[in-house]
Amino acid sequence: MKKIKKSIFAVAIATALVSTSIAPYSALAVDKPHPEIPLDKDNLEQLVVQSVERTDNGVKLDFGSEYDGYVNLLEDDIAQISIVEDGEKVKHSPGIEKTEWDTPEFSAQDEGDTYQLETAEITVVINKAPYGVKFLDKDGNLINEDYSEFGSSAGYEDGKPYVFRETTPDEAFYGFGEQAGLELNKRGDSIGLWNTDSYGYNKDTKYIYVSIPFFMGLKDKKAYGIFFDNTHRSYYEMASESDDYYYFYADGGQLNYYFIYGPEISDVVSQYTEITGKFNLPPEWTLGLHQSKWEYTADEIVEVAQTYRDKNIPLDVMHFDIDYMQDYKLFTWEEDYKQALAELKSMEGFHAIAINDPAVKKEEGYFLYDEGTANDYWAKSADGTPFVGPVWPGDSMFPDFSKEEVRDWWASKHNILFDAGIDGIWNDMNEPAVFEAEYYWTMPLDAYFGYEDNKILHTEYHNLYGHHEAEATYNAFELYKPGERPFVLTRDMYAGSQRYSALWTGDQNSSWEGLEMTLPVNMNVGLSGVPMVGGDIGGFAGRPDGELFARWIQIGVFEPFARIHYDSDGGDPRVIGQEPWVFGQEVEDITRKYVNLRYQLLPYLYNELQEATETGKPVYQPLVYHFQEDENTYDIYKQFMFGDNIMVAPVLEQGATSVDVYLPKGETWVDFWTGEKYEGNKTITVQAELDHLPIFVKQDSIIPTREVQQYTGEKPLENLVLDTYLNDQATYSFYEDDAQTQSYQDGEYNVTNFTVNKQNKNIVTFEQEKEVQNYKGTKLKSYTLKLNNTEKPSKVQAASSKYKAVSSAEAVKETSETYFFNEEENILYVNIPADEKHKVQVFFNGNAR
Ligand code: GLC
Repeated sequence: MKKIKKSIFAVAIATALVSTSIAPYSALAVDKPHPEIPLDKDNLEQLVVQSVERTDNGVKLDFGSEYDGYVNLLEDDIAQISIVEDGEKVKHSPGIEKTEWDTPEFSAQDEGDTYQLETAEITVVINKAPYGVKFLDKDGNLINEDYSEFGSSAGYEDGKPYVFRETTPDEAFYGFGEQAGLELNKRGDSIGLWNTDSYGYNKDTKYIYVSIPFFMGLKDKKAYGIFFDNTHRSYYEMASESDDYYYFYADGGQLNYYFIYGPEISDVVSQYTEITGKFNLPPEWTLGLHQSKWEYTADEIVEVAQTYRDKNIPLDVMHFDIDYMQDYKLFTWEEDYKQALAELKSMEGFHAIAINDPAVKKEEGYFLYDEGTANDYWAKSADGTPFVGPVWPGDSMFPDFSKEEVRDWWASKHNILFDAGIDGIWNDMNEPAVFEAEYYWTMPLDAYFGYEDNKILHTEYHNLYGHHEAEATYNAFELYKPGERPFVLTRDMYAGSQRYSALWTGDQNSSWEGLEMTLPVNMNVGLSGVPMVGGDIGGFAGRPDGELFARWIQIGVFEPFARIHYDSDGGDPRVIGQEPWVFGQEVEDITRKYVNLRYQLLPYLYNELQEATETGKPVYQPLVYHFQEDENTYDIYKQFMFGDNIMVAPVLEQGATSVDVYLPKGETWVDFWTGEKYEGNKTITVQAELDHLPIFVKQDSIIPTREVQQYTGEKPLENLVLDTYLNDQATYSFYEDDAQTQSYQDGEYNVTNFTVNKQNKNIVTFEQEKEVQNYKGTKLKSYTLKLNNTEKPSKVQAASSKYKAVSSAEAVKETSETYFFNEEENILYVNIPADEKHKVQVFFNGNAR
């Protein structure tokens, strides 16, 4: 079987090489997809508003042509702008979660040349001749307006919906989901959205796997967002032609976009994820480290897992790539892999994730093929026969996920994986990828989905294929694991797929460029509503050397989804693997150090993700997300915030042992390793030998951490360490639940608010407030208040009860109401009972810092 796969793959590589003649590992991504269809600026339709009709939630515009326009107000800060054919309804793509809105209060005014709609936050000014819209904030400041130098700022050109908008040179653009490139700010870029299997993509690859037609503009320190809900292939010329305008258009479909006003970036992301839905809390085990390889043998899966334990490197999950199937037939098992899975699950603390592709082997007698054929479940070629194309199993069929009955059927097959012990599902190749250069590596454009009387052309459905597969997979959990939290990982997404799935960023190159690119890619994905994201640590295509792997794992442990995964050996002479120990002792030790750090930070990471489920905020954040007031941050992509309090500034260059770090304005930054403090608004150079990752913590923050475990759930969370960087006052709202079931949705969780306060230079106080206490399963007995950068206390007490001084941090952990001062590191540890009702006071004899 392996031979078939290899030969298909070889053909694919060879074809790409012939046409591009560049190095193999960046070849496949280059000449995809089919040619672009440019917008003809000389052929723009002129729209003039003839009359305006007020509706319940805005206005309907009559253009006296074949088109009608709508401006609907959904919230004080969200307007939906559409132009559709006469009598046609504005469609919601499957990306939309919220379709019903409580119309905000607004006033409507005909001003002659313009018509204005005003909410508490924005005014939409509709220009009548030519048609155009601009948005003002509540003080009348311009946020963004149409650009009409080409005679028309919005409409259709030969069936292609388009919009031109003004920009100024200082405006920055973010979002667009997953985009290759070595920049965060997409100003100047030509962006295209068409989900593309892009093996070994590089910084210049235009089309990669995900299509999220959402972006933000940031100018005058204020942010707005535009979500172009159009699933066709779409294009964004972001001031790439001129500093005065940008435009976007699609190959077809409706002109329909949502305008969201911030002014904070966080407001925009939050409202965008109101429209498209929030990510759901994953089970905690998925936040541990994952290990994977394409072509692990069954034995290797068990051996590698065991080696992690033997070497005391924490690990939670092993992945099963396509090798576990019989002849790459979905929902089947090769017996040796099934046994390996059983063995893995019999070992302490391992979870397993199985890959599942959409391509169903065309083979009579294979149950999936027979059922799908009998029920007419396959996507069709233009002539109405099921489309057949080659993928891993050879000639394959493609389930038509646009049909609910197919999604249900697909979901219903997952017991075959779950019953064998699989805990999470990894959806791959769902562009859908087809190994056929003639079709530009996917289905032909005239293929179709849906029913004969309601066909959906591939051109419209392509970018939704992965979205619907993820939905079907998500539903499989609800079917077979009710009450448990689903975990789906996908390669392809449309807007809103975060409701079902986490994202990994595909077949990255094992190169320094590949490493550097992980940062802006993850950040823009995060700004596009997908908080759980990560790339293949060490890179997928090719192999890293020890130095590259060490640098990669250092930041990989901060990716919300952290998995080491690598390509099959592919007949290549490179034999070295990509497990932490294959690079020698030094790299193994570095890996352990940083994986341990991730496991220590799990309570913090879990809390960050929990917030993301409520607000849509990214966990892996660009600095600009936090420091919108500081224009120096707008283009920074080589540093990122891990949640709200920790900034990471990695080494991204081969051979480098120092790195320049920008410390944003308005904060004091504390070196996580040394405790040294720096005022913000400057760039410093930090030494960073191979084992050192520069990390800075915002002063006046509390980071909840815990003891290292070899896997999540190994030890109950009995002692929460509140790692505190105090100047005046630090607060933290700590969330806890059972970390695996859906009970939190019924309110079974706890929230405890901590406040650590420097009342005067002699006294620091600690207080807690138990805001919600509905999770009865908590094992928390105590908190360790870890006060960094402090002096030796004279006493610690709560009400009249004095805490006892002990001689080590370990001893503090053992006994409640104790404390220890580490004189070398200037760190105070205080063990506070979780049910401490009183304020805990730390006294310093008048010489506290
Ligand atoms: C694709 C995936 C990769 C996987 C391989 C084999 O290239 O992106 O992660 O290992 O297929 O299934």
